Parts: sequence; structure tokens; C-alpha cells
Amino acid sequence: MQVSYNDKIPNNVNLSDDKRLQRALERWLPAYQTWWNDLGPIDSQQHEVYLRTAISVDTDGWAHFDHVRMPDYRWGIFLAQPEADRRIGFGTHKGEPVWTELPGEYRAELRRLIVTQGDTEPASVEQQRQLGKTCPSLYDLRNLYQVNVEEGRHLWAMVYLLHAYFGRDGREEGEAMLARHAGDPDRPRILKAFNEPTDDWLSFFMFTFFQDRDGKFQLSALAESGFDPLSRTCRFMLTEEAHHMFVGEYGLARVLERSCALMREHDTADIRRFGGIDLQTFQKFINFHYSICLDLFGQEQSTNAANYYSMGLKGRYHESKIADDHVLADLGEAVPFVENGVVRTQDVSALTAVNERLRQDYTKDSQRGMNRFNKVIRSFGIDTELYLPHPAFHREIGAFADCYASPDGQILDQATWNKRQAEWLPTEDDKAYVRSLMQPVTGPGQMAGWIAPPKRGIHGKPVDFEYVLFH
Ligand SMILES: [Fe+2]
Ligand SMILES: [Fe+2]
Repeated sequence: MQVSYNDKIPNNVNLSDDKRLQRALERWLPAYQTWWNDLGPIDSQQHEVYLRTAISVDTDGWAHFDHVRMPDYRWGIFLAQPEADRRIGFGTHKGEPVWTELPGEYRAELRRLIVTQGDTEPASVEQQRQLGKTCPSLYDLRNLYQVNVEEGRHLWAMVYLLHAYFGRDGREEGEAMLARHAGDPDRPRILKAFNEPTDDWLSFFMFTFFQDRDGKFQLSALAESGFDPLSRTCRFMLTEEAHHMFVGEYGLARVLERSCALMREHDTADIRRFGGIDLQTFQKFINFHYSICLDLFGQEQSTNAANYYSMGLKGRYHESKIADDHVLADLGEAVPFVENGVVRTQDVSALTAVNERLRQDYTKDSQRGMNRFNKVIRSFGIDTELYLPHPAFHREIGAFADCYASPDGQILDQATWNKRQAEWLPTEDDKAYVRSLMQPVTGPGQMAGWIAPPKRGIHGKPVDFEYVLFH
């Protein structure tokens, strides 16, 4: 399924057959470009970057790689191929054919789901906009920009759905996407984790490991949707998301590799003197990012989530691989709660607990990454283990919002928390130290001292390839 690059907006949805829609999106395009120039990657207008651009949605060979001037990147609208005779896989409409048009009775719910997802995409670009100034290498700079242009494309994907199916309301939502800004006190992005600054590269790798993984799970749940255009959009977005998580996971593994080499070389865990990121600081960054990402999944028990599920709008992760009735009305699921200073679980209706289920799937997937990190550490003969903090730690949403807890899940009083939180979360000192390491390294093949070089380059290119050309 080739993509039309002759159109102003590349697409595989026959945009030129729908003049009204095409005109509406072409009117949104300059607003998007202004936003990109004002709030996208700083000072990148003249850079030529070795980027991949989607040219098809087939699994093999969907991407084309070349140097592209960043503002000339062709943001487009790509939906995965429709599946023949696809049926709704869960909820009260289970077994019925999927909807190819908007189901009118679920208009408000679908709009909310699409807007909430869509808002995170430009948010991450805004959060990461300063990073280009302090890249550890050209390889990493290229990866940052690749992630940024694709998050921009994900915004296009959601705005297309809003324009195509929600009329004037949808167009207004499309404008609002460019009016809210990450960290803006008056008009912030919708979700809290998407307002946090991400202005050092350790935070960037944590972000692409943890926040983008939240994206993977949200998109996977929406890919199950009975609203077929949403499902098809999310299925293609997931192929791009995989690279974002690779950037995070491999970036963090490379930081650890360098840290461990310094620990061995100097026979100490205190490697700040040698320009490394010590494992304690690394763990604190994990604690911060993982805990704010758990909040992104919402309340453990949620009527909204139950409704989305019953309506067939948002499913579970890998819904079709789960062996149950896919209706959940009579099934139970354990959710946590705090009683007299102890974390317990109780069985509730599985239908109201789909958020919790998705969060647990996210935790398993994150733990897989942790295991890989610990393998790196062990390969240096160092016996420190990194871990994911307990779900009660540092939470603002759900069962643990009103309590203080240590990373191992002990409920604490506020005085103890105040005394000890600097052991668990990055302090101003930690952040200042990490920031002090952020000096730009822009010679081909050169690498900052706090991170190991990658084993291989991008798309068969050598590590010392000129991934970014400055003009
Ligand atoms: Fe995205
Ligand atoms: Fe992403």
C-alpha cells in the first residue's frame, strides 16, 4: 500500500477524494508548521538529519532513509491496512463487525480518548526541545530528532481522526492541540507526566524508556478498538513507537555500560569524580519516571475505563490472546488498597479494573528492560541491582495518592518521607550534576564521556557516520 507523496499532505487514505477534509487539513498544516518552528527542536531549522520517512505501511520496507532538512520532513497520515471481516473483540458488541464510521452514541467517549492520546504527542516534542544543544553524539542527536518528527506525525494521526470524523468539534480540538503547551501554567498539557521538563539526556532516555512505553500500552489498547480507523491508526503508530523504546532502552544500557566501566577502572561506586553517572543517581531517575508513568494509567478502579471497554472502544493489551470471555462482567481482578498502614489487595469486578490490568502489563514489560540492565551490571562483576519501585511509591493518582511509601512499599508517615525522600528521588544536586555533564559532542564518531558508544549505527550505517549535517 504505497503512500501518495504528490499531495501536500502525504497519506494513504485517499485524501484527494475528500476535498472538504483535504482543505481543512491543509489549513491546519501551516499552524502545525508554526508550532514546530516555535516549540519543536530548538535551532534545528538548518540541520540535515538522516531520518526515516514512512513510504508504505507494509511491514517490510515501510521506511525510506535519507538526509532531510528537518522542516521539510513529510509528516503524513498513514493507517495500517484494513483487516478483512474484522470483528469487535470485546465488550457488549463482541462479535459484531467493526465500525468504519463513527458510532454516534459513543462520539463523546471517542473524542475524549483521541484527544487525550493526541495531546501527549506534541507535548513530548515540547518537553524535549532543548536537548539538541547538548547531544552526547551525532548518533544520539539523530535518534532524538527521529523520535521528535515521529511524535509530530502521531499528532497528525490523531488530528486526522478528529477532522475526518468529528466535524467542527474535531477541528477545534485540532487547534487546541497546538494551543496547550507542556509546562505552561495557564494552558498545560492534559496529563501531568507530559508537563515535566526533559532537558538532560538521562531524562530523555528515561522518558523514551518509560513514557514512550506508556504510549505503547495505550496505543495497544486503542488498537483493539471497535472503531476501525482508530485501530488502524494506532497499529501503524506502534511500529514507530518500537524505535522510540529502543532509543530509551539502548540509551540507558549504554549509560550503565559506561558507569560500570568507570566503577571497575577506579574501583569505586563514587564515579562522579570521573564524569560518570553513579548507579544511585540512575536508580533515583528510574524511581521518578516509573512512578509518574504509573499515574498515567489512571485509577485502579474506573467506571470510565469500564465503559470504554464495554462500549468496545478501548480493550486490554493483546486482548485476543487473553483466555476469558472478553466481557468481564462476572470476573474478578485484584486491586491494591491501603489499610492501617499496610498495602493489601481486594478482588473487584474485572470490568472496573482494566486500568490496573494495563498497568500490570506495563510493569512486566518495564521489568524485562530492568533485567537487561542488571545483566549489563553483572557482566562487569558488580553486584548492584536496579529495580522498579513498589507501585505505592511517589504516586498522585489512585489507591496510593494519599499516602507516603518507600520504594519497597513500606507506608511511611510524612516526617519520615520528608527526611528520606532525597535518598529515593533526584535532588536538585543530582539534577545539577547530571546537567553539568551535558556538553555537546558533535564530531562524527565522537562520544560524551558519560555514555558508551553504540555497537552499531542506524540502518547499516557506521557509528561514525555523519548522521546530522550542520549548515
Ligand atoms: Fe507517539
Ligand atoms: Fe513515542
